Amino acid sequence: MVARDPHRFINELDDDALARLVARLESRARDAVFARLLEKYISALPLATAPRILDVGTGTGVVLRTIARREDFAGQAVGVDQCPTFVETANGFARDEGLGGRVEFRVGDAHKLDFPAASFDIVIAHTLISHVTAPLAVLGEMARVVKPGGIVVVFDGDYASLTYAFADHDFGHQMDMALANATFNNPRIMRDLPRLLPELGLKFVGGWGDAVAEIGQGSYFKSFAETYVPYVKRSGAFPEQSIDIWFDTQLRAMMNGTFFATCNYYTYVTRRA
Ligand SMILES: C[S@@+](CC[C@H](N)C(=O)[O-])C[C@H]1O[C@@H](n2cnc3c(N)ncnc32)[C@H](O)[C@@H]1O
Repeated sequence: MVARDPHRFINELDDDALARLVARLESRARDAVFARLLEKYISALPLATAPRILDVGTGTGVVLRTIARREDFAGQAVGVDQCPTFVETANGFARDEGLGGRVEFRVGDAHKLDFPAASFDIVIAHTLISHVTAPLAVLGEMARVVKPGGIVVVFDGDYASLTYAFADHDFGHQMDMALANATFNNPRIMRDLPRLLPELGLKFVGGWGDAVAEIGQGSYFKSFAETYVPYVKRSGAFPEQSIDIWFDTQLRAMMNGTFFATCNYYTYVTRRA
């Protein structure tokens, strides 16, 4: 299957598709499980002594709004995204919350960051690296623009671990792989990074994993399936009818309280030599 990662090719999407992705990013940020994973690494960062923070692939600005709301952050943060609609939305949300003085969002390509070397204390990529065209080039740019001794954080899912329960295990597994492969350009990148990051001069100071699991009710994985099943359909991997049966079964399980889905997410905190 050829991945047609919507976040990679975001500037080819129409306004309706963009609006759905904006809604998905914002609903994911409000999801208690996902919000906890963000909070977990943000609260471990030295925000009080980090005047300049960069968030690459910032989307609607969820990460920087969360940082800017914190009392221990007194610096300036910049978010970069390739999608002008997301950047405009992110600036609007920040202004609406009265955070505009501390965060700013700009259009840019993560593969070629428009900042001088060593200009940030902390550089973050929150669910970016699984989507980009060339992950090592992006990480190389993040390593370039962070100051020596500064921190680079990479957070993302290992989407080869994405699993929805389905009684026909073979088809269920194929559907899991199709969801991962149709949606993410680099579904397995997080398992490669412990080997690759040190080669970029980024030394591990912390790394941990979290299983995002929903049992009985579905919220995070409901929105995930609603957003990405259309991309599996468009890939032509399976007859539409089989995909509809899979999707209806998931929705019924959520209504019956018998739902099960899970995926592993990893956080890597590194320091530039
Ligand atoms: C899954 S979203 C994550 C957004 C945000 N970090 C969050 O967690 O809410 C991935 C984002 O990466 C952006 N992106 C993908 N490739 C990019 C690139 N080459 N340069 C800049 N942004 C990119 C997309 O436009 C999208 O906003």
